[in-house]
Amino acid sequence: MTIFILSVGEHIYSTKRIYNEALKRGHNVRIINHTRCSIKLSGGKRQIIYQGENIINEPDVIIPRIGASITRHGAAVVKEFEMNNVYSTARSLGILRAQNKIRTLQILNHKEIPIPDTVFSVNPENIKEQIELLGGAPVVIKLQEGTQGVGVMLAESEKSAKSIIDTFYGMNKSILLQEFIKESNSEDIRVLVAGDKVISSMKRKGLEDDFRSNIHRGGSGFKVNLTDTEKTIAIKAANYLGLPIAGVDLIRSKKGSLVIEVNSTPGLQGIETCTRVNIGESIIKYIEKKCSTKSSRMKR
Ligand SMILES: Nc1ncnc2c1ncn2[C@@H]1O[C@H](COP(=O)(O)OP(=O)(O)O)[C@@H](O)[C@H]1O
Ligand SMILES: [Mg+2]
Repeated sequence: MTIFILSVGEHIYSTKRIYNEALKRGHNVRIINHTRCSIKLSGGKRQIIYQGENIINEPDVIIPRIGASITRHGAAVVKEFEMNNVYSTARSLGILRAQNKIRTLQILNHKEIPIPDTVFSVNPENIKEQIELLGGAPVVIKLQEGTQGVGVMLAESEKSAKSIIDTFYGMNKSILLQEFIKESNSEDIRVLVAGDKVISSMKRKGLEDDFRSNIHRGGSGFKVNLTDTEKTIAIKAANYLGLPIAGVDLIRSKKGSLVIEVNSTPGLQGIETCTRVNIGESIIKYIEKKCSTKSSRMKR
């Protein structure tokens, strides 16, 4: 198979790992920097120009590894491949949905996937009421498009919540409010999903003085055993968003496990190191099963 990995850098751990595993398994694999792709649309036809050649008809499969800073262009490149019947491990719509926490939670809630109680508004007149809708402080405040723990805040009192929310509304930033799941104990669970299976999972624990468990904020990874319900929730969440390969984040609460977000470009380094599972290989094996020949591409 010809596999394109859409990524800004061949030296990024996850890109390198997927690339090497694809090579090992005998595939023709190329890293395409989507930020260097130009798209031409004309007369109902499309071209994706990369390093002077039109690559639109080359791949059987694309593996988008689109970062948060260039999501829209990345999703547009993915969309062109999709419309050319190329299988993608992350649909363009899924990438856009996952980048937006409000949109993600709207879809998950509609599909009855358990999430923490969430409120969003843009009305500076009724902030008190918004906080009360969540049963009062403490509340978690999140930027709609934050990642890696940046833009996630804990407001312990109504007073501080009000001033933070006011500030973001004043700056025209989209935010959401969420009930604070105290009993999650600065831990969350990253579940790596491929289609209808969980490939691997790890628990992340935040630093002593932080409620966020992100590895980028100093958190550490540990092995964890998932319940069947957690596996089902994670698989469904990824599928509903349109992401065959995804990292689904859960927190454990008194009400059961809740999905807090879904990542369309889950990092491999932390989870491979912690669990010793060869995730790069699992991703390639998943793709092989999904579409082993060019002719299967025509049937999709
Ligand atoms: N409602 C919540 N209650 C308690 N902790 C939370 C809640 N939401 C998020 N967290 C903690 O904050 C971290 C970052 O939040 P998350 O929504 O995953 O944003 P990001 O996209 O920045 O990772 C989570 O990994 C979790 O540890
Ligand atoms: Mg997260």
